[in-house]
Amino acid sequence: MSRFEEQISHAVRGRHPLIYVQSQEEDRVLDVLRQIAPKYFPGGAVSTWSCVRGLEPAAEGADTRDPALALHWLLARPRRGFCVMRDLSAFLNEPRVLRGLREAYFAFSRDYPTALVLVSPQAPPPKALEKEMLVVEMDAPTPEEAVARMKEVEKLYPSARFPENLREQAALALRGMSLKEVDHVMHRVLSGGATSDTMLNEIFAEKAVLAKKSGFLEMVPTSFDTAAVGGLENVKSWASQRKDLFTLSAMKSGLPVPKGVLVMGVSGCGKSMVVKAIAGLWRVPMFRLDMSLIFSGLYGSPEAAFHDALRTIETLAPAVLWIDEMEASLSTPKEAATPQSMIFAAFLTWMQEKPPLIFVAATANRIEMLPAEIVRKGRFDQVFFCDLPNEDERAQIFDIHLRRQGSDPAGFEMKSLVISTEGWSGAEIEQAVIAARLEARQAGRAMATGDIWRQTNSMVPLSRTMAEQVKAIREWAFKRATRASKPVVKPPEPKEQV
Ligand SMILES: Nc1ncnc2c1ncn2[C@@H]1O[C@H](COP(=O)(O)OP(=O)(O)OP(=O)(O)O)[C@@H](O)[C@H]1O
Ligand SMILES: [Mg+2]
Repeated sequence: MSRFEEQISHAVRGRHPLIYVQSQEEDRVLDVLRQIAPKYFPGGAVSTWSCVRGLEPAAEGADTRDPALALHWLLARPRRGFCVMRDLSAFLNEPRVLRGLREAYFAFSRDYPTALVLVSPQAPPPKALEKEMLVVEMDAPTPEEAVARMKEVEKLYPSARFPENLREQAALALRGMSLKEVDHVMHRVLSGGATSDTMLNEIFAEKAVLAKKSGFLEMVPTSFDTAAVGGLENVKSWASQRKDLFTLSAMKSGLPVPKGVLVMGVSGCGKSMVVKAIAGLWRVPMFRLDMSLIFSGLYGSPEAAFHDALRTIETLAPAVLWIDEMEASLSTPKEAATPQSMIFAAFLTWMQEKPPLIFVAATANRIEMLPAEIVRKGRFDQVFFCDLPNEDERAQIFDIHLRRQGSDPAGFEMKSLVISTEGWSGAEIEQAVIAARLEARQAGRAMATGDIWRQTNSMVPLSRTMAEQVKAIREWAFKRATRASKPVVKPPEPKEQV
């Protein structure tokens, strides 16, 4: 029994005459209700209403396109079974419609001949009917349903072949799409003559569109592979141990899928970069949740918008949900119940109950501003602390950025660069290399060690200008987080010859 059917059965057994289904997939809702109607209403069936077609089967001799009239008709002649009312929610500001629904509520809850099922993509519940309306959520199609649908569309394109070895990944990537959307994607993929390589990418691209529709989720390109990240070896090896867990087969075999990681630490030390690298390594699409938009009021109350965001991301699974600078939006003053603190509480609960295949990557600078519960075991698999890079790491970061600026690191005095950038962040090293390149270019020569020295001499790193803050972050983290970097192993001092 699907979760949707379970909820409907729960509603029917409780004799709820008004059921609200939030879904864009009227067809699927209807399909399921048609299958189960005889079970819950012996001898019953499914009738429908829309403002264009009125009641179907039609009401004899009456035009029931007006919603209040339709309700009136149903009250006078209840139809055994479910009556699916499409878009009725758009008329809920009409007093006659509200009245009609309320009367249906009282009349039908007694001998329960019928349940009115309001289907709408809009977020429930309408305030005025909160008590009377039971809200039911439609599940996204299962991977099996998606596969069945894919195969149906494939029959229409006998000359195109969808590669069997990509089927599981494709079905996973199609998760969260309505079956109609699956149709559209498959038609596009199969009619466009895409090669097997580009087929998956086409499907991924579809998710970016879905995320964009929601407004506050944005797909983040993750072409970064871990080689672009200098140091932070502990995070990298943690991530590579967990490769290939975001697949259906890993899930079916019961392997524990990681829930999330919190990366905190000094600004510019690669927190954002490393979470992107994790998603890239796992080949899972990554979406950034813009918390400032959630709080902006553009999408209704922050609580409702946040709930919407979590639902949307669930439908995009497998996915990485990135919450950047978490403390900026979710830090809470202890005393009051602010929207922030309520959202934060909702987030913590969701973290524990969220479906697998959603991986939360949170990044934070000032973690001491977040409530302590956030680091409690069981929520995030790991809390990593990105400190200022050590010597080895600075050498790697120079190497990466010199190459990126078109220079060969072999031509630079690495040791002295590393020593002169003690206390520098990765972002600052990158800036120094870029500035040095531009200066050298203006002077009409290739960049050399001296150009970088000049930059490092004239710049003051954040760890010095904000020494107090950096110290506080470190003290907090040393006790509570795992280091993102492997400690440097110094070669043993040569023994003195006797
Ligand atoms: N370990 C590193 N290896 C290579 N480049 C690095 C590293 N750390 C930082 N950088 C460079 O610095 C830039 C900024 O890093 P990033 O945005 O990941 O820092 P952050 O820790 O998220 O900072 P903030 O707290 O300000 O958001 C990166 O785009 C990258 O070019
Ligand atoms: Mg960042």
